[in-house]
Amino acid sequence: MSQPIALAADHGGFALKEQIKQHLDEKGIAYQDFGCHEPVSCDYPDMALPACEAVVKGECRCALLFCGTGVGISIAANKIKGIRACCCSDAFSAEYTRRHNDANALCMGGRVVGSGLAAELVDIFLNTLFEGGRHQRRIDKLTELEKRP
Ligand code: RB5
Repeated sequence: MSQPIALAADHGGFALKEQIKQHLDEKGIAYQDFGCHEPVSCDYPDMALPACEAVVKGECRCALLFCGTGVGISIAANKIKGIRACCCSDAFSAEYTRRHNDANALCMGGRVVGSGLAAELVDIFLNTLFEGGRHQRRIDKLTELEKRP
């Protein structure tokens, strides 16, 4: 059995996170919810951090992150070593960020994408494999960038 998926959102992404939880439940996919747990104003870095740490530690296989635009929480996620987060609202990007970037966090905006599209993007993201090859060289260079002081 693979590890659960890490979920996190601020108040702007809370409703979409709850809708995606229902989608994952229907598919029998396990997840761990790092909050927020109610739609009350909060700060997206606070929820991004524990969810992304769980991914980096190998406790969760990847993260699905939500805020109003998907942008703020993707910026937060990308500051955590080992995270490659994509803010996404189209199927092509959801597919290729897995195939080429080996992305381990998908970020979406609760004020940008509807629940149907978000569920489709989640399915694509979870079911697409990294291609490796020349793309691994680029991922290695991203990892090198993380070592700069
Ligand atoms: C919160 O109002 C909003 O700024 C936040 O959810 C997100 O959109 C930031 O990028």
